[in-house]
Amino acid sequence: MTKVLLTSRNSAALRPLQQCLAQQSEFEGHARVVTNGYTDPLHGLPFSPDIVILRVDSEHLAELTAWSTKNGASRPPLIVVGPPGQVEAMRLAMRSGAKDFLVEPVAPADLMAALRQVRTDAGSSARTGAHGGVYAIVGAAGGTGTSFISANVARVLADDSERTGTAPPMLVDLDLNFAPLAHHLDLHPERGLLQAIEEVDGLDEFALSGFGARHRSGLRLLSATGAAAVLSKDISAEKLSKLLDVLTANHPQVLVDMPHVLDSLTATVFSMSAHIVLVLQQSVLHVRNAARFMNILKTELGVSPERVRIVLNRYRKDALVELDDVRRSLNVDTVLTVPSHYRSALESVDTGVPLFEMDRNSAVARSVRQIAITLVGEDEAPRAGLLQRVLPGFLRNKQ
Ligand SMILES: Nc1ncnc2c1ncn2[C@@H]1O[C@H](COP(=O)(O)OP(=O)(O)OP(=O)(O)O)[C@@H](O)[C@H]1O
Ligand SMILES: [Mg+2]
Repeated sequence: MTKVLLTSRNSAALRPLQQCLAQQSEFEGHARVVTNGYTDPLHGLPFSPDIVILRVDSEHLAELTAWSTKNGASRPPLIVVGPPGQVEAMRLAMRSGAKDFLVEPVAPADLMAALRQVRTDAGSSARTGAHGGVYAIVGAAGGTGTSFISANVARVLADDSERTGTAPPMLVDLDLNFAPLAHHLDLHPERGLLQAIEEVDGLDEFALSGFGARHRSGLRLLSATGAAAVLSKDISAEKLSKLLDVLTANHPQVLVDMPHVLDSLTATVFSMSAHIVLVLQQSVLHVRNAARFMNILKTELGVSPERVRIVLNRYRKDALVELDDVRRSLNVDTVLTVPSHYRSALESVDTGVPLFEMDRNSAVARSVRQIAITLVGEDEAPRAGLLQRVLPGFLRNKQ
């Protein structure tokens, strides 16, 4: 059953909503009166709600402000409830990507209609992947092929975005010192990732286009550019999180090529990701690392294993570790594979031409395409324009 979290700082205002949910059996309501100093309504919650209803008023806007700074793709859909005439609350609700704003007194029929609409929208976007968001691509060990796969998946998605007339994918290289993707794509960005993180507070769609580089396919790359060594502890995870929010607001897919480390930067990206692509090879060590990584994601970062996609790179049928071994060890139903093709992969990286461009019918290119489809869904129909997508239902209806 769809789990609904009802939350507010005002218990009396929450009561009628609670009563409404108690009288029906379609949605499972959980009320939470916030009394502590945390402004994130999800902080320490022992379950993952499918929908959140946040009741606010002019004195209690901190929760809504906090929600508006989080990444939409990793949060459940939000419905805001408030007294009439709450202009500031409405503005914040819009910035938070709220699906609806219900004005008090809320009629039970209106509440149910809003919940049903959100449930339907969430169901269809989960099926088609139309939601987009952040996709982290990480190796179970160094040298597994994550940069190669990231560059090629992004290249496939660039073709799809051109065909459907949607914004191109954004590729982010989080290898702050070697920034290999610029080499994989033969790009030479002048203003890079670190400057974008530094200047994130003033970044809008227009300013963003001055950072990174545009590939001829349309895809954009943000990577580090400087010669000086960078320590991840010197970069603000909060600013990186804000940057990802700006990127996801302007690009339906933001692919992040992750270094093989766990620190505050990578933990931030993992917790914000709609999907995590975990790349490994057919060795016992890789499978062991992958199992440990999935466990860390779940227990430390609250990332459900359902959000992880497993890719076996350099796959060979005659290897000692077989597909079924990987499936069983990692407790997953699906394992995607990319065959081993040493010569063409090397040539692609050395010349800066994605393999998908060199030979889009090769076995490697076809398997990379399969990864892209798994991530974003097969729905290739043109999606609604940006304005339509970011406007919550309550404003769209008024157009
Ligand atoms: N399927 C494949 N078949 C053959 N060679 C491959 C394949 N995938 C990647 N490679 C080769 O492996 C090399 C290393 O790949 P890549 O740089 O993508 O690894 P990585 O996991 O990003 O490494 P790092 O840990 O340094 O970030 C590439 O230069 C490419 O030539
Ligand atoms: Mg790499």
